[in-house]
Amino acid sequence: MESLISLCKRRGFIFQGSEIYGGLAGTWDYGPLGVALKNNIKKIWWKRFVDDRDDMYGVDAALLMNPRTWEASGHVAGFADPLVEDIKTKRRFRADHLLEDAGVDVKGMTLADMDAKIKEKGLKSPDGNALGPVRQFNMMFKTNIGATEDGSSISYLRPETAQGMFVNFKNILDTFHPKLSFGMAQIGKAFRNEIAPRDFLFRAREFEQMEIEYFVNPKDWEKTFEHFRTEVLAFTQDIGLTQKKVHELEVAEADRAFYSKRTIDFEFDFPFGKKELYGLAYRTDYDLKQHSEFSKVDLSYFDEESKERFIPHCIEPSFGLDRTVLAVLVDAYQEDEMGAEEGSKEKEGGSVTEKRVFLKLAPSVAPYRVAVFPLLKNKPVLVEKAEDVYKMLKKVIPNVTFDDNGNIGKRYRRQDEIGTPYCVTVDFDTIEKGTGVTVRDRDNGKQERVMIEELIEYVMKNAHN
Ligand code: GLY
Repeated sequence: MESLISLCKRRGFIFQGSEIYGGLAGTWDYGPLGVALKNNIKKIWWKRFVDDRDDMYGVDAALLMNPRTWEASGHVAGFADPLVEDIKTKRRFRADHLLEDAGVDVKGMTLADMDAKIKEKGLKSPDGNALGPVRQFNMMFKTNIGATEDGSSISYLRPETAQGMFVNFKNILDTFHPKLSFGMAQIGKAFRNEIAPRDFLFRAREFEQMEIEYFVNPKDWEKTFEHFRTEVLAFTQDIGLTQKKVHELEVAEADRAFYSKRTIDFEFDFPFGKKELYGLAYRTDYDLKQHSEFSKVDLSYFDEESKERFIPHCIEPSFGLDRTVLAVLVDAYQEDEMGAEEGSKEKEGGSVTEKRVFLKLAPSVAPYRVAVFPLLKNKPVLVEKAEDVYKMLKKVIPNVTFDDNGNIGKRYRRQDEIGTPYCVTVDFDTIEKGTGVTVRDRDNGKQERVMIEELIEYVMKNAHN
């Protein structure tokens, strides 16, 4: 993780939030390459779950919502993590994390169970002092709307994008008149006041989600659940995650969110353990019923065929976007040894290898799909031709970059580190013999000569997806 975090900073993927002020715990800023990677993931998700389907409606709801939303959803009363305080330093910790770190399986534990276990094990705070009782800590960020700062002006930064869809359910019904089954999809920021943000992008206080609320006749919930289970896995393939690192976990009743009748967590083998990447939940009619009751607006659906009126049930596939970025990056991070033929110094009597760091990103998510170089920077004939090739590619493939800094070996290493699958080099043979350009493969360093007219097809054909 340390090597990856340092690469992310060095190469402009991800920086600590507000770094010049010493940072702000649980916040991260994406730099140009991080934004490119994240946008590619969003595009792939939107294509699979919205554009390629006829039954999905995209929305982009406000982050600030009427606070009644969060009373109806149950978040005001119940969206909490177990907190424990160091009695001397007053620093706060996640009780479940302290127990897990001590080798305790916390699944299904109540607050009282955690309290008892902490006492039984004699656990101390990481500062070395005794711990107070385990309490619930509501994770929503409170804020005041407008100029007054009293109870009537309180609102919250949304802790999930989901509710922005439930409150627009009737708008979609009234404007598009969809027939069940249909869904709503949204990508956007959410905020949770994590007691202990940790593990880089994994547990942050401000993060992005990609969520779907898919509405069905209750009789269809099981087949829809199965459908999305397959779709979630297909998405993990789209973005190139190693399939054997993705696991499904049937969440036991005691560990499910209060609104869910069935949940599968899709977990990923992160360097810090097998942790939740995505969730698939059967939220029943809980949310629409609650919002109907709290808003006094009828959120039922009339089924023309059966002439029945009912509140649709909801299947929710929920994806953490920053967690996806992290999974893609840790999965792609590789170190190997690469030969000296690529520009490092030759030792007398034998070839030299040097350590190489590279990101084996799927071409579909890589910030750049191709980099174009002139072999030598100081030969205008090569530079001009390389610029022509660059412009030609750029017309068709938006994420192409041009690099003429340093020697060719250094450029390869730089592109390897940011995960560019192909490097195209214009050399003297390109000009003098008309034999095309070299295309070097990031993963094995092998080079092939490719005619310029065939370059676009070559680069796209060899893309894994
Ligand atoms: N909407 C489910 C979640 O945020 O986890």
